[in-house]
This record gives sequence, structure tokens and C-alpha cells, in this order.
Amino acid sequence: MDKTKRRAVVAGNWKMNKTAAEAAALIGEIAAAVGTPGCDVVVCPPFVALSAVLDAAAGTPIAVGAQNVHYEESGAFTGEVAPGMLTALGVQYAIVGHSERRQYFAETDETVNLRTRAALAAGLCAIVCVGENLAQREQGVTVDLVRMQTKIALQGVQEAELARLILAYEPVWAIGTGRTATAAQAGQVCGAIRAQLAELYGSAAADGVPVLYGGSMNAANAAELLAEADVDGGLIGGASLKAADFAAIVQAAGG
Ligand code: PGA
Repeated sequence: MDKTKRRAVVAGNWKMNKTAAEAAALIGEIAAAVGTPGCDVVVCPPFVALSAVLDAAAGTPIAVGAQNVHYEESGAFTGEVAPGMLTALGVQYAIVGHSERRQYFAETDETVNLRTRAALAAGLCAIVCVGENLAQREQGVTVDLVRMQTKIALQGVQEAELARLILAYEPVWAIGTGRTATAAQAGQVCGAIRAQLAELYGSAAADGVPVLYGGSMNAANAAELLAEADVDGGLIGGASLKAADFAAIVQAAGG
């Protein structure tokens, strides 16, 4: 695997944190802290802060993403946001299938597939999340499960759309727990995701898709995780809310 074939990406998932005003202020701090980054930098605030964050990020290297996206263009889907609504604002990325969406909001592999396809069709970059829970890891099914989640998420996705596809391996037991996967565990599963991509699209195409690790990645452990051949960046929760910590991870990914 050749890391030079793909770009490194560090994306901050702010989850349900920050008002619009607080979010805009945090962008100012992050922009100052990251300077000119050596990798792609994305922040994903709550929907209601997207406009403020887009304004605050204008003229900086920071791109903006949503934390979710619906698969229909419009209609009777109370509480949902359509891909075209995001692109019309200037949003470039959308997280799809985060484990908190799967766990608390009944997302399934099938709806993750629909959302992935709709996001890509609308021109968004889709950050598609996969990962096992603790019981599944202990049962030894991690690689099988993550490969299956990846395969289902990508049903119907065309090779030409891969330029806007990012995968994120996020073991559920590592998210927000302070319990990070070891570099070897992260590298193994990110490698398995790439093997699945290669099975679907061929190895040249698979080598171009960034595969991120997420789950308690922080300023202290980022460099070791990112040194793995198949770990191309991070999807950062808690540490993305602190400008200095987030910038240190960006530095580790782009250095
Ligand atoms: P965490 O969250 O970094 O707080 O573990 C990662 C994520 O859920 O994307």
C-alpha cells in the first residue's frame, strides 16, 4: 500500500456541541492553530451552526461537513436534511453512518447505503463510518463485520465517485471512552477495509481512498496511529473541540 497515492484527512466531529456563535469562535481558534496544514482539514458542526461555521471558515483551509445527510431530495421527512440543502450552503462533506446514528437513531447498513449514495450523487464527500462493538470484537468477528458494513454501504456506488469517498474505522468501544485501539488494531482493520475496497473496485482504486481511524484519537496518540500504512487520517470527536489538540493531530497527519 502506498500512502503517497492518497491524501491525509483530519475531520472533527463536534457532535451535539457548540451554538452557532461558539462554533464560529472555535473556527477562529482552529484556523489560527492549524496555519497552513499538510493535510485536508474538515470540521463537522451541528446543522444549525453550519452557516456560521462556513462564514468563519471562509478564506481558511478548513472545509465544512455535516454530521448526517438524508437520502431523499425533499419531502415529508421531519427532522432530516437533504444533500442539496447542504451543497447549496457550501457544505462539502457529510459523515454517514456514525455509530451513534446506528445505535440511537436506528440507522442500518441499508440506510447508510442510501445516505452514502445520495451524498455522493449530490457532489458531497461522504465520510462513511464502520466499526464493531466490544462484544463483536470479543467474538472475533471484527474484520468480517467491518468488511460487510463497507460492502453494503457501497452497494451501487460507482468507481468514478470514489474520488469523494472516505471511510472511517471507528470501533464503538473506543468512541468517547478514552480507550483507543492500538496502532496495530487500527492498522489491521483499516487494511481490511482497503482490501474490501480492492475486492469491489480493484487495488488501484482502493489505494486512492482515504481510510481514517476514529475513537479517542488525541494529540498524544495520533502520531503512532497515523504511522500505520493504512491509516490515512482521523475522525476526531472530543479532541476536535480543543483547538490546540485538534491542531496537533492535524500536524501529526500532515507532517
Ligand atoms: P472520540 O469520537 O474522538 O470522542 O472518541 C470519535 C467519533 O465519534 O467520531
